[in-house]
Amino acid sequence: MENLKDKKVVIIGGSSGIGLATAKLAVSKGSKVIIVSSNQSRLDKALQEIGNESVGYATDVTNEEQMKNLFEKIGSFDHLIFTAGENLILSNVEDTSLETARNYFNIRFWGAFTAVKYAAPCISAAGSIVLTSGIASNRPNKGWALGASICSAMEGFSRAMAIELAPIRVNIVSPGVIKTELWSNISESDREAMYTNIGNTLPVKRVGEATDIAKTFVYLLEQEYGTGQTLIIDGGTSLV
Ligand SMILES: NC(=O)c1ccc[n+]([C@@H]2O[C@H](COP(=O)([O-])OP(=O)(O)OC[C@H]3O[C@@H](n4cnc5c(N)ncnc54)[C@H](OP(=O)(O)O)[C@@H]3O)[C@@H](O)[C@H]2O)c1
Repeated sequence: MENLKDKKVVIIGGSSGIGLATAKLAVSKGSKVIIVSSNQSRLDKALQEIGNESVGYATDVTNEEQMKNLFEKIGSFDHLIFTAGENLILSNVEDTSLETARNYFNIRFWGAFTAVKYAAPCISAAGSIVLTSGIASNRPNKGWALGASICSAMEGFSRAMAIELAPIRVNIVSPGVIKTELWSNISESDREAMYTNIGNTLPVKRVGEATDIAKTFVYLLEQEYGTGQTLIIDGGTSLV
């Protein structure tokens, strides 16, 4: 497909993991990519990897004023991808303070909400938005109350936006476990053991790579008919 050539794609969370892999794939298809994250040095490193004429803007998704300024600077564009997120908080509800629980929504839910609010007026009518969920909404394990709640909220928000912002298409990707810096709060040996153990339980016999999910984001930009959909790419996690 040629339809990403010369399209302007904004990727919030583009400095690492799934967002960075998506930026590289979109550039390989001829898009002009703008990556956004909260950390300038991580952005600079990512821009070197992406190459081409990509640009980066340091913006904290939890700061409404910075987000408003970001989209004023960017102006009109074609597609928004939102993959910003932080390390997971896994704990049972009885052990979770309400302050921690409320704050955990700030990046992944309220950050995405703020991004959509200020980005939507800048997105072309033929353009689209792709947001991020996670398989915890369908298959939460013990201790996943917050992650499952955010993912479910994001899926509902995406469907609501598909109606409210039409004809702009709004879809959401729900990944299973993917090898990225999201898991960097676990020691390397425990992390590798976790990847192996989870991978062995899955029909595809491995956990995912960021590139597996990048293909999904790019597919949702390229296809021109689907909207309001949650695309689950989880190596079969939901089946086992
Ligand atoms: N990896 C998985 O197994 C998995 C599974 C299901 C769902 N997900 C979801 O997929 C999304 C992407 O995760 P990933 O695995 O690619 O993680 P990652 O490699 O840690 O990437 C997270 C991105 O978010 C940015 N970010 C964090 N806080 C920010 C803030 N306040 N403002 C702006 N940007 C911010 C980070 O950049 P800076 O640090 O430079 O700000 C980074 O670019 C997340 O929502 C995650 O929950 C991941």
